[in-house]
Amino acid sequence: MSAAYPLEDRHAWPAVPAMPALPEGWSLGRMSALDLQAVAAIEARAYSHPWTRGNFENSVKSGHLGLTLRDPVGTLVAYAMLMPVVDEMHLLNITVEPQRQRQGLGRLMLAVALATSHAHRIHTMLLEVRPSNTGAIALYQAAGFAEIGRRKGYYPAPGGKREDALVLRRAWPAHDAANEGTEGQA
Ligand SMILES: CC(C)(COP(=O)(O)OP(=O)(O)OC[C@H]1O[C@@H](n2cnc3c(N)ncnc32)[C@H](O)[C@@H]1OP(=O)(O)O)[C@@H](O)C(=O)NCCC(=O)NCCS
Repeated sequence: MSAAYPLEDRHAWPAVPAMPALPEGWSLGRMSALDLQAVAAIEARAYSHPWTRGNFENSVKSGHLGLTLRDPVGTLVAYAMLMPVVDEMHLLNITVEPQRQRQGLGRLMLAVALATSHAHRIHTMLLEVRPSNTGAIALYQAAGFAEIGRRKGYYPAPGGKREDALVLRRAWPAHDAANEGTEGQA
């Protein structure tokens, strides 16, 4: 499908994350109790082993950073959950409504998550992903994430089996060196 809500590639993954411009009419929000029903409904359709509504509720209550993305008619179409742990931001969840996938929204949500982390002065992001989730891995690699480890049997899998998790990490400088230090130089 064509990218209806694209971030232009050359702007998508700057060396230091910046908040992407949203297409006209779209809006970002902080996940609240009012969003839990819509979030849990998307989650149930998007995963074989979804988080429950209670998982999201606990995450929000724990002070994790829940981000929501709404389209121009106000429909919640994507969300992410970020957990700050000292100087690392853990991306616990990032999901796009299944019928809206492959339209650039995952890329947009990930850019928002990275920029939100940067705004909280956290310059390292970690996440876990199933090795079978090749689409998500392609997205993370394009965004500059690299594999740093593997957790054996981390995820439940169909048929009572388990699947490993790949641990991916991206770190970036606290400041944009390209835009600094130019004043007063000969
Ligand atoms: C992973 C997910 C968030 C990506 O969101 P999306 O809106 O579909 O992705 P985008 O349209 O922004 O795609 C960005 C890039 O990711 C890669 N990608 C995303 N989905 C892909 C797929 N199914 N197959 C191959 N590549 C894929 C591509 O490189 C794509 O770029 P391209 O469209 O220019 O080829 C979304 O598919 C999703 O919610 N999946 C279910 C939940 C999930 O697995 N979350 C991640 C858990 S770690």
